[in-house]
Amino acid sequence: MLLTEMRPFQTLYSRTHFRYLISTKHPQIHKLYRTFHSTNHRLNKEPFTVSTVYDPVTGCLVTKPVAKSKHTEPESNSDYADALKDDRSYGSVLKANQGSWSGNKKKSKIKSTWVCSECGYADGQWWGYCRDCKNVNTMKELTEVDNGGKTNGFQVSEKIVQSWLPKGAGETVPLRLTDVNRGVNHSDWRFPLSGLFGDEVSRVLGGGLVPGSLVLVGGDPGVGKSTLMLQIAAIIAEGKEIGKPAPVLYVSGEESVEQIGNRADRMEISTDELFLYSSTDIEDILGKAQALSPRALIIDSIQTVHLIGVTGSAGGIYQVKECTAALLRFAKKTDIPVFLIGHVTKSGDIAGPRVLEHIVDAVLYMEGEQHSSIRILRAFKNRFGSTDELGVFEMSPSGLKAVKNPSEIFLSEGYSDSEFLAGLAIAVVMDGSRTFVIEVQALCASGSSLSRQVNGVQAGRADMIISVLMKQAGLKLQSNAIFLNVVSGATLTETAGDLAVAAAICSSFLEFPIPSNVAFIGEIGLGGELRMVPKMEKRVSTVAKLGYKKCVVPESAEKLLCRLDLGEIEVLGCKNLKEVINSVFITS
Ligand code: TYD
Ligand code: MG
Repeated sequence: MLLTEMRPFQTLYSRTHFRYLISTKHPQIHKLYRTFHSTNHRLNKEPFTVSTVYDPVTGCLVTKPVAKSKHTEPESNSDYADALKDDRSYGSVLKANQGSWSGNKKKSKIKSTWVCSECGYADGQWWGYCRDCKNVNTMKELTEVDNGGKTNGFQVSEKIVQSWLPKGAGETVPLRLTDVNRGVNHSDWRFPLSGLFGDEVSRVLGGGLVPGSLVLVGGDPGVGKSTLMLQIAAIIAEGKEIGKPAPVLYVSGEESVEQIGNRADRMEISTDELFLYSSTDIEDILGKAQALSPRALIIDSIQTVHLIGVTGSAGGIYQVKECTAALLRFAKKTDIPVFLIGHVTKSGDIAGPRVLEHIVDAVLYMEGEQHSSIRILRAFKNRFGSTDELGVFEMSPSGLKAVKNPSEIFLSEGYSDSEFLAGLAIAVVMDGSRTFVIEVQALCASGSSLSRQVNGVQAGRADMIISVLMKQAGLKLQSNAIFLNVVSGATLTETAGDLAVAAAICSSFLEFPIPSNVAFIGEIGLGGELRMVPKMEKRVSTVAKLGYKKCVVPESAEKLLCRLDLGEIEVLGCKNLKEVINSVFITS
């Protein structure tokens, strides 16, 4: 017990008497503590508790005062006695304790935040579900320690770019739109990417690479993000479109420069201006970039880099956010475009790029099925263009190649056999702004078990189409097992594919092969009627370009399409499924 805490009793007892009571562990001290405790409680000061413990030395039960607050807890009776030696020493003990207490208080300034691993929503409280995206069990606790104003992303990028550019923050003032656009040719603004591969990437970026943009490229591990970025880096470095090569810095925190070099060699990349660097320290990376002054900077991946002084290990949410903040400032101040690669983990881990979607200018996702070599690069967010665009690539032993006719990638190889094979029909679906021709296969087997298996079509949608065929078109499918399949592992997500699914089932059930040059576009209603779908003109003109001779569409679309010049293709408008069956499945 400290002197200050004893002071209320000093008016009642002399100092010598106190010392005596403590040194002899006199029973009266317990009474004193109890009195002190209740007095203190009344005075609303730090309370003391009295606990009884077994003392192995004396073999008796001993009652000891225990301070609730650790910093003022006396170790033993001798502490009291020592403390009692000098009044000033109490003051100093107290001050020291206060000092350390306030020091502890500063150190332990820990802030807990609950962050959703799906959408990045942050809440100060745990709710069991995300109040933004409503996902359950996605809130992860993150503790942020106030590091007393140490490094952050802002400071790092400022430090780097301040020494690089003469531009000061004070020079920037609000500008009129007309002044901003005066003398600027926006078609020259973007950096063009050459070749078929470059065209596909440009299309996704909204027409070329924007100076000072921060682009996040996400995708599952192993989908080909590093391969894609290395090829993009080479194209930017070569600068064929503008006839001037310039350095591009590819930084990897995952692979050594030798490994990247080996990969580049396999992909036959041999540009002089591509610089490789292996590092995970953002300050170091920006420092090296400063020395090189590259045309573009690529970071593979954002989950491997870190900023010294920021809480958590690389890949943690604070590291990822601070590093991205540093790179964003760097990109905006220097006009150097920065590409970040980010992994999407299966568990939707907190360090996934989803947390960063709000910070970056564009988010591109690379998608691909496990057993397919087709890779699709899709814009999920783009401040400089449409998110409808997608690039189609094929992974080959020598890297990614742009697909020449993406509309045909979902056609089966034995497509020409459909002249003889029943159960095949062609659907025309849109993904973003691109049209894909997809082959749907059906098999109706009578006499076997009445199971239904669907692949690539939503089970509920398939059930509905089969029921409509039975009820509204009079097809006796009840005694058949029905199998549906969409080739190349594609999935029909659009209702525009309904008619092709129905046509494939009819073809198999009636054992009537559909000619290979017929395509089907349309949604089916519960009454068996055919309904219009969006972008009809684009769909029909795509199949016309691909050499199809006939396109079956809803009747309402026929009138619209008649006015267009679609070449030789015959547009056949049908009101309902019965009309489709009567006009397609007849021998001429
Ligand atoms: P990678 O770019 O390393 O994927 P990510 O960076 O997204 O993890 O590519 C990994 C896969 O790509 C790997 O399974 C092998 C394949 N690949 C090819 O088929 N051909 C190639 O030329 C290269 C470089 C990779
Ligand atoms: Mg990689």
